Amino acid sequence: MPKNIGIDLGTTNSCVSYVEGKEPEIIPTPEGSRVIPSIVAIKKDGTRIFGNIAKRQMITNSKNTIFAVKRLIGRKYDSAEVKEMKKRIGYELTPAENGDVKVIMRGESYSPEEISGMLLSYIHQISADYLGEEIRDVVITVPAFFNDAQRQATKVAGEIARLNVTRIINEPTAALIAYRNKIVKDGLYAVYDLGGGTFDISIVEVIGDIYKDVSTLGDTFLGGNDFDLQIINWIFNEIEKEINIDLRDDKNIIQRISQIAEKTKIELSFNQEAMISIPYLYQLKDGTNYHFQKKLTRVELEHLTFGLIERTIELINYALKDINIKPDKIERTILVGGQSRMPIISKKITELFGKEPFKDLNPEEVVAQGAAIQSEIIKGKVKDLLLLDVTPLSLGVETKGDVFTKIIERNSTIPIKKSMTFTTIADNQRTVKIHVLQGEREVASENKSLGYFNLIGIPLAPKGIPQIEVTFEIDADGIVKVSAIDKKTGLSQSMKINPASGLAPEEIEEIIKEAKEYQQHDKERVELNKLKIKLKEEYNTVKQFFTSYVDKFSNMEKDEISSLLYRVENELNKDNIDAIKKLLNQLETVRLQINNILMKEFETWG
Ligand SMILES: Nc1ncnc2c1ncn2[C@@H]1O[C@H](COP(=O)(O)OP(=O)(O)OP(=O)(O)O)[C@@H](O)[C@H]1O
Ligand SMILES: [Mg+2]
Repeated sequence: MPKNIGIDLGTTNSCVSYVEGKEPEIIPTPEGSRVIPSIVAIKKDGTRIFGNIAKRQMITNSKNTIFAVKRLIGRKYDSAEVKEMKKRIGYELTPAENGDVKVIMRGESYSPEEISGMLLSYIHQISADYLGEEIRDVVITVPAFFNDAQRQATKVAGEIARLNVTRIINEPTAALIAYRNKIVKDGLYAVYDLGGGTFDISIVEVIGDIYKDVSTLGDTFLGGNDFDLQIINWIFNEIEKEINIDLRDDKNIIQRISQIAEKTKIELSFNQEAMISIPYLYQLKDGTNYHFQKKLTRVELEHLTFGLIERTIELINYALKDINIKPDKIERTILVGGQSRMPIISKKITELFGKEPFKDLNPEEVVAQGAAIQSEIIKGKVKDLLLLDVTPLSLGVETKGDVFTKIIERNSTIPIKKSMTFTTIADNQRTVKIHVLQGEREVASENKSLGYFNLIGIPLAPKGIPQIEVTFEIDADGIVKVSAIDKKTGLSQSMKINPASGLAPEEIEEIIKEAKEYQQHDKERVELNKLKIKLKEEYNTVKQFFTSYVDKFSNMEKDEISSLLYRVENELNKDNIDAIKKLLNQLETVRLQINNILMKEFETWG
């Protein structure tokens, strides 16, 4: 019988799981490891290799060994993240036509989703081989901060691997699902995820069977690799102390030391001290060989990495502050990611929250396990858990006066569908342009434009009469569809958000921060724009009356009105809100006066 699987597609390692009976099991690689290094490489003879095998030849084939591609997915070539990546990789990157980033492997360029797709094909293959069954449905996890473009790209990667991806879910939510039997109390749970390259802290609210992410923060360049770097540095320093030579420029030596550093780090999670031995590391001038040998203790490692651990604690405090919660309001914490196995981390978490974290399940496997359970939930095999994710930023459209009208608010749970009805702003307007925006600013032009589409062929009607219903729909994978329909004719038009227009996670944070800073300023600008539109309308009305009935006014009235109109024209080019309000008042008064004069005229006629 075909099987469903869950895949944790990690930056450093991936993991795949399926449910046997009621419990999730891990699918091992043919070499017997329970996690799969997220690495794809092409050998000299053109064959593609994956996982552990690709990792082993990384040093000798660094140009054609692609790792950490998850960092590139849905990103622009010019983004800060990609620039940072370039410093850390041996393979080359190049911009795609639409500005996205592509990687080069053996002279050919591939999109990140193609590379992820290759890795997923491999995972597909080993899963089917291991289970001896076809793979039916798949759930893939992504970081909670992944935006629409990154989620779509992940889904595309799944399609490339011929997988039927039924759901993309957030990693912290998946971790919580794996612990579902222990989550017996409603409330807030924290998921601390320290993996190979990234750190995430998520606060998830549990109400019965509903899991909802309420706060997520992270550092996309903080993970196990940085812990390794501290040890690597320490080793280089010790070497320098002993033989007075800096070996930091030798690629082969770096590689040997890196491998030893990670091993030592892992050993120190189990033992209080570890012996580091690197024989034949360097040939000295006198022809003798230099062998490195030194002891590193757990306490020393904790000192070396103190700053990194503190940074994660600092981010937890931010995430809590964001939702105004004190640490003691958190029911329990879940540890995720291989690096969270470092003993001092659970000690720090216990200190901060006053309770021990859950760590019964393997932190590298728990996300995949949750995904596997979710794939069964979708098929109705496991007790139904409702999963809710949230939108990272508000979505809406531009309306008159450069105003951003939000249709779906940030942090709304998805899937979601919401509509709002709009109308035309000019008589006999045949076309409405729907400008889709994402962001938090009240002024439309300050937000990220996701694209336009036109609803063409609206029947002739005075302004304000046609009813155009605009609907935003975000599906369970976070993919956005916008449609507009003219209620009278049923004429409709829609668009799917172009993945290339996605925002990077750090951009999202920046946008939210900026929106808060500019809130007052934006309100004023929106008010100003609205007042200006009103002033312009009053101006048009008064001017039209005045020019049509100029002979009905006394010379003094004529002078007064002309001068007022002149001042209004001038003021419309400026941004002085008080002056505009004053003129608006005066114009309204004049309009009423004109009305009175004309009424009198008509009466005398009557
Ligand atoms: N026992 C251990 N003690 C300390 N660190 C460990 C231990 N076991 C694994 N690690 C580290 O965990 C990291 C890998 O974690 P994991 O497999 O969860 O990463 P990932 O999920 O792919 O990364 P990311 O979350 O950044 O996408 C590596 O840096 C590895 O050295
Ligand atoms: Mg991970």
